[in-house]
Amino acid sequence: MRVKLLIAVFIAILAISCSNNNEEVMLNLIPYPAEVQQQGGHFETEAEILSVSSDDAFIIQLLNKQLSREKGLELPIAEEGMIRFKLVQDNTIPTEGYRLTVDKGVLIEATEKSGLLYGAQTLRQLLTLNNGKVSIPKLTITDYPRFAWRGMHFDVSRHFFSVEEIKQFLDYMAMNKLNTFHWHLVDDQGWRLEIKKYPKLTEIGAWRKNVGFTANQEKGLNTKNTESYGGYYTQTEVREIVAYASERNITIVPEIELPGHSAAALVAYPEYYCDNAGELEIWEQAGVSAGVYCAGKESTFQFLEDVLTETMELFPGEFIHIGGDETPKDTWLACPDCRKRMKEEGAHDEHELQSYFVHRIEKFLNKHNRRLIGWDEILDGGLAQSAAVMSWRGVAGGVKAAEAGHDVVMTPMFPYYFNHTQNHLSTSPGHPGISTLRDVYTFPSIPTDISPDKRHHVIGVQANMWSEYMPKFKHIEYNLFPRVFAIAEVAWSPAIREWDDFYARVNKAIPTLEKQGIQPGDISYHVRINVEPDYENKSATLEFVSERPNTIYYTKDGSKPTKQSTVYTGSFVLAEDAHIKACQFKEDGSTTFVSEKEIIFHKAFGKPYQLKYAHAPQYDGGGKYGLTNGFLGVEVGVEEKPIDLIIDMGEATEISHINSRYKNAPLSWVFGPKKVRYEVSADGKSFNEVASFEPGITESDVNEIVQYPAEFEPVKARYVRIVAENVGLCPAWHPAAGGKAWLFSDEVIVK
Ligand code: ACM
Ligand code: ZN
Repeated sequence: MRVKLLIAVFIAILAISCSNNNEEVMLNLIPYPAEVQQQGGHFETEAEILSVSSDDAFIIQLLNKQLSREKGLELPIAEEGMIRFKLVQDNTIPTEGYRLTVDKGVLIEATEKSGLLYGAQTLRQLLTLNNGKVSIPKLTITDYPRFAWRGMHFDVSRHFFSVEEIKQFLDYMAMNKLNTFHWHLVDDQGWRLEIKKYPKLTEIGAWRKNVGFTANQEKGLNTKNTESYGGYYTQTEVREIVAYASERNITIVPEIELPGHSAAALVAYPEYYCDNAGELEIWEQAGVSAGVYCAGKESTFQFLEDVLTETMELFPGEFIHIGGDETPKDTWLACPDCRKRMKEEGAHDEHELQSYFVHRIEKFLNKHNRRLIGWDEILDGGLAQSAAVMSWRGVAGGVKAAEAGHDVVMTPMFPYYFNHTQNHLSTSPGHPGISTLRDVYTFPSIPTDISPDKRHHVIGVQANMWSEYMPKFKHIEYNLFPRVFAIAEVAWSPAIREWDDFYARVNKAIPTLEKQGIQPGDISYHVRINVEPDYENKSATLEFVSERPNTIYYTKDGSKPTKQSTVYTGSFVLAEDAHIKACQFKEDGSTTFVSEKEIIFHKAFGKPYQLKYAHAPQYDGGGKYGLTNGFLGVEVGVEEKPIDLIIDMGEATEISHINSRYKNAPLSWVFGPKKVRYEVSADGKSFNEVASFEPGITESDVNEIVQYPAEFEPVKARYVRIVAENVGLCPAWHPAAGGKAWLFSDEVIVK
């Protein structure tokens, strides 16, 4: 054994040639390390004799698995390898960090296994293999993470994924130095976790009649297929997955949704539903069912505590996610038990009852030394200080939580929901709404609205993978890559680099993915048109942003751009109405998508307005001028209630034209208004109607913009009121009949 090793070392010394030119080379590393010092030149050796040693055997096992998939290379183990992974005592290396030195060999030092694991991920990317020769640039990297919580979420309720697929997902996370797996195990569409005390949760709750929704949202609803669909993880499998994750420095945060999103559990155990609340079924469609645990019955809490007890036995991590989002509360209001509870607990309304529910569960978790984390709705009604919040409805929840002293994980749906498509291809699976690679990379992960002394409460970022429209694992891979590179770099690297730098590194990484049989999402040719209105000067600055370096062509008159159209060279100021169209051309001369934006400098441009019923925080239209910012595009969203706004024109203004615009996309639960009314006023108190419309609601599956232009005799008025009536609840013909409907308003144009 010894003799063989000595011979190997001797050959190795002969084989190593140390080139020593001093130029910096581009390092194709994702996520980019905290500190890099290049020495110039390379460590080079014959691949055959490149050996490895490690203070932790698993690191070699994982590295070899990865290198053999990516490069067809497998490193023999030696007592003192040319590549050495060493556990050291060194307080200059931070938690999860490592130091990687390439000189006459490779040394990776860390104080914990996690650091060695991450050093291996960097090494894997530094190492190139050509004609049997391995080459690694000489350098020293000192690296450590920016955030402690570097998360990926995966919804296995809407579609079920096998143990092997979960492990593959965990491998992708480890490759990208992500360390927190938020496992969305239960929802209206299926319960996926074996609970010994309540076997019907998986005997009944894990199975629905049909697959239901498919990869494409438009075709997704109403898809009928008669096979039973579902699946679940046994406790043995869960233990295996927890151990698999732990070897890869990944903590699993299980999510047990409550009190809403619980139809699957309540079909299995209807006794925890409010009495007389009707029949539930395990959902086969997107959206939120009426399934909510009864907050009045003591037995509900016993059930949930039992479920959480078994959950805590399986998952040793600090956090348990309890959902808390989108709770339908109507059944509570009609339930005598819930009403009694409200009275006893002094809860004034159903929101305070939800707060009681969450508090009670939180106390139980805390008693067992666990911390609660939930979606940002759990902030309503106050929380214990130790609870953490996931900001998903934009960043507002994150700001509010951090200011109140709660730890926060930023996961705003735009751009961190990876179920949104990353390009405009009609073949892309996932929810409509685009979050490109660039959107993810450039999004400010710590909201600047958080006071500087509270920003440390942002403990991390996370991308979420809701699986409604992704039935197959290849859809998950398509939506994960390459965006996971962006969230990984945001989560890990201390500073975000220039887009071009990141884009170049992503392009280098893609062939390695493809070699492993992964099909990453297509990088978009989409041009984003950014408009920065200047209300004082009645103008706007336009900027076009694209992911690819291809030239951008545009027009201002609504015509389709050609290669003879104006070439975009940088941002410009616009002071007249325009209908901008912009695109890039692919290498073959075709274009995949033409972006457009109409900009109208009308009389209400930049005028303040008041909404009678608040818009949903996640649909704010881009800020307080969302409905008067001069450009068209779906803007402000209100659930169930009307959009009722009064615009203050600032002074008496002659008005003879009003137009308001709405989205009508019933299959996304978004309906155009039932009625629309325009009124004007001199004093903001007494209003006169100038026009009205009564379009009603017809059964359809369209996705369109509807508008209600009105011309009338000129009137002088300071205030303009628009009342658009929401259909309220989805009508009887709708797949989600009775669910709350959305009304989305676009720009209100006043002339
Ligand atoms: C969520 O997307 N409902 C958290
Ligand atoms: Zn009840």
